[in-house]
Amino acid sequence: MGQNTSLETYNGKYRNLMELLKDKMYLDCFGECGGLGRCATCIVNTTGLKGSSVIKDRNEPVTLERFGYKDEPQIRLSCQLLVSSDLDKTIVKILV
Ligand code: FES
Repeated sequence: MGQNTSLETYNGKYRNLMELLKDKMYLDCFGECGGLGRCATCIVNTTGLKGSSVIKDRNEPVTLERFGYKDEPQIRLSCQLLVSSDLDKTIVKILV
């Protein structure tokens, strides 16, 4: 942890940012619910996120609030972010 890494992928390889991070960063205990938006083991802080690459799962705000994050739009569940050009140059800090 505490390292900076630039990740690249191609369109369609990963369903969401959680899958990309888990695959490329070899993170243990990351994304444990498989992207259902309930476990909060994939929380990230995003800086510079463009657009709204959101899957729009209603579980996300409930889960984030349950883990103490309310009204912090930069805090996201990475499983709820689509991998798209909206993520280009976004700085993602893994919080879990
Ligand atoms: S993988 Fe469980 S909330 Fe994202």
